[in-house]
Amino acid sequence: MSEFIIPAGGLIPAPKVEQPNIFPMEWRCETPKLREIYERAKREGFNPSDLPWQELSPESYSDDEKVAIMYWWALLSNFDSSGPAVFARATIRAWEAHEEDPVRKCFFSITRDENNHEECCRRVIEKLVPGAPQGFVPRSELQQVALNNIDWLYHNGGRYWTGYNRAIDRYPLAIIFTSFMMGEVASSTLFHGMSRATTHPVFRQVFNAIGRDEARHLQICISLLEKQWPGLTDEHREFITKQLRAGFVFLSMVLWEPPRQFWDLPDYFLHNHRVLLRVAREAGLGILTYEQQADNWRLAIARVRKLVERWGIQFPAIPELDIDGVEVGDITADDIIPVF
Ligand SMILES: [Fe+2]
Ligand SMILES: [Fe+2]
Repeated sequence: MSEFIIPAGGLIPAPKVEQPNIFPMEWRCETPKLREIYERAKREGFNPSDLPWQELSPESYSDDEKVAIMYWWALLSNFDSSGPAVFARATIRAWEAHEEDPVRKCFFSITRDENNHEECCRRVIEKLVPGAPQGFVPRSELQQVALNNIDWLYHNGGRYWTGYNRAIDRYPLAIIFTSFMMGEVASSTLFHGMSRATTHPVFRQVFNAIGRDEARHLQICISLLEKQWPGLTDEHREFITKQLRAGFVFLSMVLWEPPRQFWDLPDYFLHNHRVLLRVAREAGLGILTYEQQADNWRLAIARVRKLVERWGIQFPAIPELDIDGVEVGDITADDIIPVF
């Protein structure tokens, strides 16, 4: 006689889990390359606490230099610090959509990495200007305009988050990945350029560590896209073309200068922004010049263009950089998905 109870009519099948849902559990692996990258993410990831922060001494800068350097990190955090929440949401989406296990794990690893990048922003900002980015008392005109510009940046960051929340459930993950890719290509080149340009060893270590993460994020995006793109419809392809333009519009704020689309800013913003970046650059932070940044963008865009054209996806016009392509019309807050 059996130890178990098995009714005469047989075992009763459990009801099917209504989808989308993270259940039932399974750990399919369709893309071994992604599993390899995830293994690497576990080994390569850095701990921001281990960096020699004590070598970053506020005394070596004037008060205005400290605020100008802090301004750039606050600008970066408009992008990098939205990363944890953006990728956490994408991770949940990947679980609910029953993406293969390595996809879910890679998204998790990006979420963790972005947390580390955010921690670097926090550490530099707190060390140089206590109370910053928004809670310090400005004591000069430079500090006053820096605070006001940061307020405007975060106003736009808030608009981005609202748009992203609307987009994440509306589009296939492939489209979301394309948007991320523009950010990863651009940021991996940005951080490597800055690590060469900075004169401070702590900043160099931070840029190297973040740049290594971003290069891995790019590999994740490319592997995912190779897998997803064959199934795209013409409508998806058109949407991706528009997303590439949205990536340029959004990321140019930190990679170059913002075009006159999406960004809701007062007229004086850009002038003050340029002065603040000049002061931070002269203090040795490692910010590239306007021309170097434009070249960096052109290089990143050429790489993305080559990738997407392989899948018959057209590239948008970027007249700001003399890059021709398809006209995609206006870019609004609803169109913006890309993050670092
Ligand atoms: Fe990233
Ligand atoms: Fe990042």
